[in-house]
Amino acid sequence: MSLFFRRKKQSDAVTVPQHIAIIMDGNGRWAKRRGLPRTAGHSAGASTFKTIARYCNKIGVKYLTVYAFSTENWKRPKAEVDGIMNILRDYLLDTDSFKGENIRLHFIGDTSVLSDELKDLIAKSEQDSADATGLWVNIALNYGGRDEILHAVRAIARDACDGKVNIDSLTEQDISDAMFTAGMPDPDLIIRPGGEHRISNYLIWQSAYAEYWFTDRLWPDFKTDDIDAAIESYSHRDRRFGNAK
Ligand code: IPE
Ligand code: IPE
Ligand code: MG
Repeated sequence: MSLFFRRKKQSDAVTVPQHIAIIMDGNGRWAKRRGLPRTAGHSAGASTFKTIARYCNKIGVKYLTVYAFSTENWKRPKAEVDGIMNILRDYLLDTDSFKGENIRLHFIGDTSVLSDELKDLIAKSEQDSADATGLWVNIALNYGGRDEILHAVRAIARDACDGKVNIDSLTEQDISDAMFTAGMPDPDLIIRPGGEHRISNYLIWQSAYAEYWFTDRLWPDFKTDDIDAAIESYSHRDRRFGNAK
């Protein structure tokens, strides 16, 4: 039993965030340190993702949003991009990895540019897991925060041109509702393994009041204990949202 669970039983000191987002970074360096191709790092990272999603489901997290591939990651060599897409394909073909876990899958990002096969698998995985009552997992794929805002602005501008929206009465909520994450709570806690202290275009609208937790550990080495440590840290933060103390 994890430290987190032991402590949770003894007291209510630990607050489980409703929505955790993770920037799954460090796969390439993990592989390089072992003399392996970068795709081996991405495979190991996919395995970590499954473990962490299962664990988040178990401890009562409601939403987990993971950064799998950014709009900027297309700059990488084709072999690496293809390798990542193949790993995703294998994950979606193995439906037990989410159906058997009572996990609801949802994709955020511009998936329109992906292969037809991948698009079909994505649609099928979303349909097949739609009745799951456990954790809701968002996989951010070809996702960029700025790209997401651009999509929202286009949609709102289109509605304005069609006379469906009064520009002067637009609210922040209207913009949230035009994001890929419409209807979901904003992330409470954003975790970045891999040692970098930056946001890399992730959930830039939704993270306005998120708490951050960083670790040097590379994503393939990330363990459920790291989730415990992040939640432990989160539990002691005073989220003021601009209020006086
Ligand atoms: C994160 O790991 C996965 C993707 C960005 C697709 P990286 O591949 O960025 O790993 P590092 O940062 O090079 O170690
Ligand atoms: C962010 O990691 C994207 C994903 C984890 C999918 P990157 O490795 O692409 O970010 P940078 O380039 O270090 O900012
Ligand atoms: Mg990286």
